[in-house]
Amino acid sequence: MSETQTILDKQAKYLWPNHLLYFEKPLPLAKGNGMYVWDADGAKYLDFFAGILTTSVGHNNQTVNRYIKDQVDQLLHTSTLYPNETHVNLAEALAEVTPEGLDTFYFGASGTDADETAVLMAQIYTGNTEVIALRHGYSGKSQMAMSLTGQSSWRMGPVHIGYVRHAMTPYTYRSLGGIEPKAYVQACLDDLEDVIQTMTSGKIAALLMEPIQGVGGFITLPSAYLEGAAEIARSYGGLVIIDEVQTGFGRTGTHWWGHQHANIVPDIMTMAKGIANGMPLAAVATTPEIAASAVGQGLTISTFGGNPVSCAAAIGTLEEMKREFNPARSAEMGAILEEGLVALQAKYPLIGEVRGRGLMQGVELVSDREQKTACASAANAILNVSRKLGLLIGKGGMYGNVLRIAPPLIATREHIEEALEKLDIAFAQVQEMSF
Ligand SMILES: Cc1ncc(COP(=O)(O)O)c(C=O)c1O
Repeated sequence: MSETQTILDKQAKYLWPNHLLYFEKPLPLAKGNGMYVWDADGAKYLDFFAGILTTSVGHNNQTVNRYIKDQVDQLLHTSTLYPNETHVNLAEALAEVTPEGLDTFYFGASGTDADETAVLMAQIYTGNTEVIALRHGYSGKSQMAMSLTGQSSWRMGPVHIGYVRHAMTPYTYRSLGGIEPKAYVQACLDDLEDVIQTMTSGKIAALLMEPIQGVGGFITLPSAYLEGAAEIARSYGGLVIIDEVQTGFGRTGTHWWGHQHANIVPDIMTMAKGIANGMPLAAVATTPEIAASAVGQGLTISTFGGNPVSCAAAIGTLEEMKREFNPARSAEMGAILEEGLVALQAKYPLIGEVRGRGLMQGVELVSDREQKTACASAANAILNVSRKLGLLIGKGGMYGNVLRIAPPLIATREHIEEALEKLDIAFAQVQEMSF
């Protein structure tokens, strides 16, 4: 029996069957190096999804690994009851790249934990309860995070928290009523204000937004929306929480944070995924004033929050990002990727829209461009053919029809050209299929 089959058999026997797995025959991965991963039977793949935008400075990164190994030998665990040097050093290093003023941190172990903590902080600081999130957004797997999530397919189980309200997302490609993009942004802002006025007490704790909705299919929020929405939220007493779990650390190019393409400064910002190159870590950044508001409001600890090994990995990851794999580089490489995808769009009618920023590019597939008929089966087919060609990409979107292309930030022009060539072959095959 192949290694792959042994792993799949154990997976089926011992792991919960509701784990979402890519591919009809799932792909067990065994090894990674730089831009490549190998499966359990030794086949090699170019990784253009980076473990869901997480392996930011590449698999088996020697700088990050050295930090991890040194820390393992020094001190593996403390809990947040005891300060440790790595924990505070990471906070200091992060403060150099977070927006001005957002320079105090809570470290947790997942994006879910970070988003949940951010909302709680906003509730404590404002004294208000209700929270506005956006449709098509994704916040994680806890009860609160699923409640914030604006996609029913990601809301497992029946119980959801009642104080979350969802406003329309400026998904301009699919604007309701076919309204043209600029007017649609205004319609969405009007909807946000209407939701606050008609569906809340009139005082909100926060508005939470992802600058580019990741799981939602890389829906890129126009700057005018981010700016207008922040103003509206504040006028009803709310804080602005920006979720940078997918968009952080230079992925969107030019800036360290996705929201910085717009003229806004969040009150609270969450981050995870790319922060520690795959080690479990998340952070919430806010102002000293907001952070101080929780003092005396109840005790809090995190057993794994700020784990020294994860923090060491993050220090190494940040060092790599500051040294070479920085936002300017992601902008440059992202432009090559985007240009190549737009060229594929000109060739293949299946591609309805190419969107995103930097090394975070979404490709929305439709069986009819005029009607914009979402085509999830084409997205599955592209993933399958790409796998056969040795390329891994992701997918997402409310309708399961958006390819998510987001390589590690170390991708070179050659890697991007290799991926585009494979995608060209995949599209040529899939375009011929009937959907
Ligand atoms: C924008 C966003 N926020 C939060 C989360 C939750 O993160 P985690 O899976 O680490 O709990 C995710 C995960 O995909 C995400 O994309």
